Amino acid sequence: MGLGKLCEFEKQANKVCFTYERGTAYLEIICENIVNVFLPCETQDHRSKAIEGEKAIPVDFSVTGKREQGADVVVVETEQLTVKVFDDFYVDFYKADGTLLCADSRKERKPRPALSEKSLAVLKAEGHDVSGGESLSYPVQTVKVMDGDEKFYGLGDKTGFLNKRDYEYENWNSDIPQAHTDSFKALYKSVPFLITLKSCGVFGLFFDNTNKSCFNLGKENEGYYFYGAAAGNLDYYFIYGEKMPEVVKGYTYLTGTTPLPQLWTLGFQQSRWGYDSAEMIREIAGTYRKLLIPCDVIHFDIDYMDGYRVFTWNEEDFGTPGGIIEEIGRSGFKTVCIVDPGVKREQGYAKYDEGVANDYYAKTPEGEVYVNEVWPGEAVYPDFGKKEVRDWWADNQRCMLSFGASGIWNDMNEPASFRGELPADVMFTDEDRPSPHSAVHNVYGHLMAKATYDGLKKYDGKRPFIITRACYAGTQKYATVWTGDNQSLWAHLQMAVPQLCNLGLSGLSFAGTDVGGFGADCTPELLCRWVELGAFSPLFRNHSSNGSIFQEPWRFDEKTLEINRKFICLRYQLLPYFYDLFWKGEKTGLPVIRPLVLHYEKDPNTWNLNDEFLVGEHLLVAPVLTQGAQKRMVYFPEGIWYDFFTGKEYSGGEYDLVSAPLDVCPVFAKAGSMIPTWEVMQYTGEKPYDTLKLKVFKGEGVYVHYQDNGADFAYRDGAYNLYEFRQDASGEVCHRMLQEGYGTPYRKIEYVR
Ligand code: NOJ
Repeated sequence: MGLGKLCEFEKQANKVCFTYERGTAYLEIICENIVNVFLPCETQDHRSKAIEGEKAIPVDFSVTGKREQGADVVVVETEQLTVKVFDDFYVDFYKADGTLLCADSRKERKPRPALSEKSLAVLKAEGHDVSGGESLSYPVQTVKVMDGDEKFYGLGDKTGFLNKRDYEYENWNSDIPQAHTDSFKALYKSVPFLITLKSCGVFGLFFDNTNKSCFNLGKENEGYYFYGAAAGNLDYYFIYGEKMPEVVKGYTYLTGTTPLPQLWTLGFQQSRWGYDSAEMIREIAGTYRKLLIPCDVIHFDIDYMDGYRVFTWNEEDFGTPGGIIEEIGRSGFKTVCIVDPGVKREQGYAKYDEGVANDYYAKTPEGEVYVNEVWPGEAVYPDFGKKEVRDWWADNQRCMLSFGASGIWNDMNEPASFRGELPADVMFTDEDRPSPHSAVHNVYGHLMAKATYDGLKKYDGKRPFIITRACYAGTQKYATVWTGDNQSLWAHLQMAVPQLCNLGLSGLSFAGTDVGGFGADCTPELLCRWVELGAFSPLFRNHSSNGSIFQEPWRFDEKTLEINRKFICLRYQLLPYFYDLFWKGEKTGLPVIRPLVLHYEKDPNTWNLNDEFLVGEHLLVAPVLTQGAQKRMVYFPEGIWYDFFTGKEYSGGEYDLVSAPLDVCPVFAKAGSMIPTWEVMQYTGEKPYDTLKLKVFKGEGVYVHYQDNGADFAYRDGAYNLYEFRQDASGEVCHRMLQEGYGTPYRKIEYVR
């Protein structure tokens, strides 16, 4: 890093300041297991968009200067961690027992040699992408020694398999219309948080830098992995955990947890770009009710707007503003409306005029309002880095509420642009100072979601439901995410599992994929298998692109319809389990969907398990992800597992071949589980939930079930009930109330075996 020799160090409250020959660097002890490493290359402060509020708590730690193996070293010790800091600001992390977890590499990187002019010319001539060498140099970077047994997880929505070892990724929120493949370096989201699992321990690295950044995980060289950014500070957090859940908890302690959502948001949702009239919406909603397929939400894609102008209504095709929302609302449907950031450039359009008059839009370096193109044609980009712009955007949510929207879907907020990417020097704002697009790009969606959240919270008072496509670390506090424009491909169904697992490990617990696939044409079999996965995804939404084959549950044959209904009904039965997981997740940061490695990290069979996942700790789901398959291998981690539907017993630590005809999704419950279920309704709250049925799987266990009004923030003041269930070795179950604050407890609790 070229800082030279360490001249002196000083302990200052939670920080240690290191003065080097050529600069100053810092460690900050956030808590016993989290340390921030900070080299101010650009600004003296963190300016974090992910972390809000002060996270450092008083910690007892020691700082000692020593000589070790001929080198000066400063040793910083907390109860859980030892950090050693050397010349050139090399930083090594040890467990309290002295085990080395993570060391800075002292050697120069050995990048792949650049392509010769001749090769470049030939490749370019045939239209190849020759940008592969881009990651060669990063002005801000850290290189870590790789021992060889590292497994890497996290990093948000990246494509490919669960374990990111040997791959390279970039953080640059990208809307790429082609089918997503393993070779994609970036997608819509930037979550520069990596979990490293080694035989000696597990830890997280959160590189809080919003500029374009890169994580190279042994691809460049098997001797090291590194992360770097195009600009900004070297500002990262080392998060130690005795076990992997502690690492996820540490990361969400810093960046926030997913708050408990409204109950209806966990119901089934139907969407399509191209529901282009009130008539069509009426027909879709009516068909759900007629066919007795439960559904809570209809999404209104861009079609409902007048000429794609945000905060307007297309009266020609959708009638009186909000009329159709009110109408379907009478049969229990909630509506979620899309709102994109691009504001049509058109004098006389109120939003455009207001924004120009108040200086709310991003500008060219010359100071003109910057114009690109999205759905409405020429469009301008709100500068969400300014508080007053976020407040304005929040206020505009009143218009959406006046239409009757219950939730808002933020799309195209990478930000997307049809006339090529916004130039790096388009000027935005970072609160109190100008900031170029290159620094704001990755947080644009985050700031938009935050503004939307604030607006809904203020004017609706319910728990805001926002779905965003682009995001940064920490967006989980404000929004649900989906994985963007997947396609109706088996490969994308397969990819959905590791993608959702890694999103969960990255704090984004409330996530889903477009069930059935967005682009390309769905098939009956693919839809069945996708609805089987979707039923276990936190966000359960069937969505497709204009122009693709229709893929609502009834569009194919009777069998497909039945299978769709069966799994949507199963989801409604399991709603209390999902809701409990969200409630617990708000406290712990642990996701709803979990890769097995999260709870069984010592078991090598879980390290690369891409086609199974846990829902909470109790359910193991092994969906069929291959065309034509009627059976599949299932790996059972330690313990005894029971088939959720038949009760058949399986022993952990083994693979079993399990039958899975088209109408079966293999699901297993861990011995001792007690899974809360409700009666199936056509939409959440259609009738009061007065009976809780607990599906009991033999074995000792404790389960805490949560109950509240499912809608507002009263739970934060204690308006909820907690039921504790205990099962002893003989299978006897008893329960007691741990907390009584919600006035409508169950009238009946039944145990089902
Ligand atoms: C892109 C989104 O990813 C997709 O879900 C949406 O339907 C289209 N934009 C149109 O709004």
